[in-house]
Amino acid sequence: MCRLVVTTSRNPTAELRAQAEQWARRLGTKSVARSARRLATIAADENVPGVLVIGAARPTYYEPASSLEYFFHPSMAKVRIHNIKTGRGDPMITAMSLTGGDQVLDCTLGRAADAIVASWVVGPRGKVVGIEKVPIIAQMAIAGLQDYEISPADVAEAMRRIKAYQADYNEYLSNCPDNEFDIVYFDPIFDEPLERSLAIVPLRVLADDEPVGAGAIEQALQVARRGVVIKQRVGTGLWDELPFSVELISGSSSRIEYGVIKP
Ligand SMILES: C[S@@+](CC[C@H](N)C(=O)[O-])C[C@H]1O[C@@H](n2cnc3c(N)ncnc32)[C@H](O)[C@@H]1O
Repeated sequence: MCRLVVTTSRNPTAELRAQAEQWARRLGTKSVARSARRLATIAADENVPGVLVIGAARPTYYEPASSLEYFFHPSMAKVRIHNIKTGRGDPMITAMSLTGGDQVLDCTLGRAADAIVASWVVGPRGKVVGIEKVPIIAQMAIAGLQDYEISPADVAEAMRRIKAYQADYNEYLSNCPDNEFDIVYFDPIFDEPLERSLAIVPLRVLADDEPVGAGAIEQALQVARRGVVIKQRVGTGLWDELPFSVELISGSSSRIEYGVIKP
C-alpha cells in the first residue's frame, strides 16, 4: 500500500503542479489536486498517513494525524565544516582519517549532514556516494542536495557533488566491486534516542531503524580499502557482538563514539 500522496500548496502555479507530478512519479505514487482541502482531509480522502506538499519555498512532508513535519535541511553540516576550517576538527572525519581525494560510501544518508561534511573534506578530486532506503527521506535528500540554497559557495558545491541514491545498503554493497571506496560509513538509528537530538525526531520516526549487522559489515569490509566506520551511542552492545576488532574514537558529545574496523 502506498503511504503517501503528493499535492501542492494552495493556489499553485502550473510549474508547482508539474513539480508535484514529477515528485509523485519519483515516489511511485499519485499527485492529487489541493483545491481548498486541509491536509488532514486529503490524508483521509486518500486513505494514506502522509501528504507531501510541493510549495514555492520547499517540499514538506506531513503526517497530519501525528503532526509530523519533515523537510530537507543540512542540519549541523555548515557548523561542522566551519569547525574544520578553523582548526577544531570533526570527530567523524578523524575516525575516517579522511583527506582530499578520498572516496566515501555513506550507507545511511538520512539528511546527509555527515555526507556533506565528508564531501567538503574529500573535495572535487574525491567522491561521496550516499545511500538511503526510505523513499521520502531519499528523494528529499536527492533533491535537497541539488537545490538547497546555502552559503558559502564551497559548502553548496560540496552538497552538489554528492551522488545520492534511493537503495538498501545491503543490496548496494552486494553489487559493489571490492575495494571501490576508501571508507564505508554507517550511522544507524540509535535504539534509544539521545534526548537532546530534537532536530532528528521526524527523521527518526520515518527512518528504517534496522541495526547494522555483522553481515552488512562483512560486505562493507570487502568494499572498503581502508576501513568501515560506524557511529553509535556510547555503551552500545554492538561492539561486543561483532566478530571484528574495533578501534573507538570519541564523538562530538560524550554520548557518541565511532567504531573503526579495518579490512
Ligand atoms: C541516523 S540516520 C542517518 C543520518 C545521517 N548520517 C545524517 O547526517 O543526516 C539513519 C538513516 O539510515 C537509513 N537506513 C536504515 N537502514 C538502511 C538500509 N538498509 N539502507 C539504506 N538506508 C538505511 C534510515 O532510513 C535513516 O534515514
